[in-house]
Amino acid sequence: EKVILAYSGGLDTTAIIPWLQENYDYDVVCCCIDVGQGNELDGLEERAKASGAVKLYIENVIDEFCDEYMMPCVKANAIYENKYLLGTSMARPVIAKRLVEIARKEGATAICHGATGKGNDQVRFELGIKALAPDLKIIAPWRCTDTWNMQSREDEIAYCKAHGIDLPFSASNSYSRDRNLWHISHEGLELEDPAQAPNYDHLLVLGVSPEKAPDEGEIVTMTFEKGVPTLLNGEKLKVSEILTKLNELGGKHGVGIIDIVENRVVGMKSRGVYETPGGTILMEAHQQLEELILDRDTYTAKKDMGNKFADIVYEGKWFTPLREAVQAFIETTQQYVTGEVKFKLYKGNIIKMGTTSPYSLYNESIASFTTGDLYDHHDAEGFINLFGLSLKVRAMMMAEAEKN
Ligand code: ARG
Ligand code: SIN
Repeated sequence: EKVILAYSGGLDTTAIIPWLQENYDYDVVCCCIDVGQGNELDGLEERAKASGAVKLYIENVIDEFCDEYMMPCVKANAIYENKYLLGTSMARPVIAKRLVEIARKEGATAICHGATGKGNDQVRFELGIKALAPDLKIIAPWRCTDTWNMQSREDEIAYCKAHGIDLPFSASNSYSRDRNLWHISHEGLELEDPAQAPNYDHLLVLGVSPEKAPDEGEIVTMTFEKGVPTLLNGEKLKVSEILTKLNELGGKHGVGIIDIVENRVVGMKSRGVYETPGGTILMEAHQQLEELILDRDTYTAKKDMGNKFADIVYEGKWFTPLREAVQAFIETTQQYVTGEVKFKLYKGNIIKMGTTSPYSLYNESIASFTTGDLYDHHDAEGFINLFGLSLKVRAMMMAEAEKN
């Protein structure tokens, strides 16, 4: 029988290969789903072979990730607990989907992942797999405390050696990281104590801190069509290419670094630092455009829907009717989100430099302090009388009550 292993090439998922053979007698098919983790993919083939896998898939799903998972989150302005741009969360469903597709192709009966029993990722992978392939068995070695006896990297290296796998893994502990085209997350080490400042010199991978950013800012223009970015500085590019360039620009100028204590689905709080340089710029630019275009009621409803969308994505409920329904609402609001946005990147900031759209609801003659006949100042008086009637009535009652 075959098992599909979500494989990263790291020590954790490499040690899983002999463990699966030993405990289940499976043929292990390794799958590395490329969502833009960059140099993490180097040397994967040799490592998988040396570890006893029967086959290695390296699947590039970057464009699907960008168009079908990332962009809905951008359009929704989906931000978890006011800060987290969901980089890891939004990638899990596309990974789960591809693992299931490969499982079908290979006739595998199980899928195995290396997420721990304390995190969100196990929830996301497994809800995804259950929704797409309810018949597949799911194996999570880190939760198999009877058979998975490795507690440290040293243990894992020793276990690999004992099973004939001799690979140059470093024993030293680093941050627990997860990288894709949208972001990189950092957890562990000094971050586990919220009283400690992050060691940014050590930690940052995609860019520099605002202090180390250039003294000279950089101007960027972006064009959107129906909520999707199409041009960057006048050049027509795919979303994945735009993100790649925005990551470079944002990283250079110290944009998009957050430090958060977040509430995980499994009940605990956990502290992480996330670098989301390109994603932060893309979301901000998109919002800058929406400011001109959405009417007040839609904007207000969309804020709530966006928060709902963020929770859905964080909780791993991508393949659900609720996600589809909320996404349909968001999509409807994007029909006129077309136009051009200009801003400057400067020491961690994104500074507005002007926004235009053929569908702008901004009307200078109405808004201006000096001109305009569409707006009659006298109308405001009657409006305020009715708008404030209930609070006036209550104030009168209170004044009366105080007398008695
Ligand atoms: N806490 C973040 C989230 O839940 C990041 C998780 C990072 N995952 C990892 N395997 N290092 O989405
Ligand atoms: C893990 O526990 O596997 C990573 C952290 C998380 O999933 O939240």
